[in-house]
Amino acid sequence: MIFYFSGTGNSYAVAKQIAEHIEGERVIPLARFKDFKQCDHAERIGIVFPCYGGRAPDIVLDFKNELFRHINKSDQYIFAVITYANSPVGAYLDFEENINAWFKVKMPENDTYGTVPIPSPEKEKTLLAQSVTLINRFIEDILNKKAVIMYRPIPGFGVLSKQAYKHVKNLHKNFGKKLYADEKCIKCKQCTKFCPVQNISFNDKPVWGVNCINCCGCVNRCPKDAIQVGNKTQNKRRYVHPDYKNIYY
Ligand SMILES: Cc1cc2nc3c(=O)[nH]c(=O)nc-3n(C[C@H](O)[C@H](O)[C@H](O)COP(=O)(O)O)c2cc1C
Ligand code: SF4
Ligand code: SF4
Repeated sequence: MIFYFSGTGNSYAVAKQIAEHIEGERVIPLARFKDFKQCDHAERIGIVFPCYGGRAPDIVLDFKNELFRHINKSDQYIFAVITYANSPVGAYLDFEENINAWFKVKMPENDTYGTVPIPSPEKEKTLLAQSVTLINRFIEDILNKKAVIMYRPIPGFGVLSKQAYKHVKNLHKNFGKKLYADEKCIKCKQCTKFCPVQNISFNDKPVWGVNCINCCGCVNRCPKDAIQVGNKTQNKRRYVHPDYKNIYY
């Protein structure tokens, strides 16, 4: 079983690529998963997710904690894969006690609201090609249930990543309240299907609820670039994994 959380398709693409190499393997969105009994019989359990502020997103940590309340990890191979744009900093520290293997994959930036620019189309292509090569290399380890820790934070990174996490949380404070559709919106309603936590409804125009987890999915996926976050995203590039522009949760 490979669980994923993904705002713009990077982590989904990684989960899919791994699953394609394991017979009978399937990918499952973790945001709505409740039936943890199903995990009892899984030979391998993977969790694939993006890095937020140098850590794992809260929704992933909640899922991980719930998962480990239900499974007997001694006879199961548990791996995690973090996708990130700059550095996964200390995210490993949230997982080290629970997992057999930890992998990291550099992918294009998707935080339209943040300070790091979204890559150019050329850079995006290079990053995605490199990610495919890297994943192909570590799939063997997953197949062979190898204990591999691809990256351990250097001492001090734990504290640093806590600070980075705080900073990113502050930066994205009230993110959900700042979302709106501008005049470019063509009322296609697609955004209501893009949100991994079903936080968008439609009443003549998109309406955002109170459960946004700032994945940037709706902002990046709107076909008209009509979704804005306050006044910070108007002229910024958008990014969605080119193979998964229309994944619905
Ligand atoms: C709110 C937010 C915070 C992020 N923080 C980091 C970070 O601290 N370090 C980093 O390398 N990438 C960071 N990123 C970039 C994503 O981790 C990266 O683009 C990831 O591959 C996106 O995966 P997804 O398409 O599956 O959502 C951040 C993205 C978002 C939306
Ligand atoms: S996806 Fe974009 S264009 Fe379509 S309804 Fe939502 S905001 Fe409007
Ligand atoms: S409403 Fe929030 S959680 Fe939902 S897609 Fe948009 S940014 Fe992501």
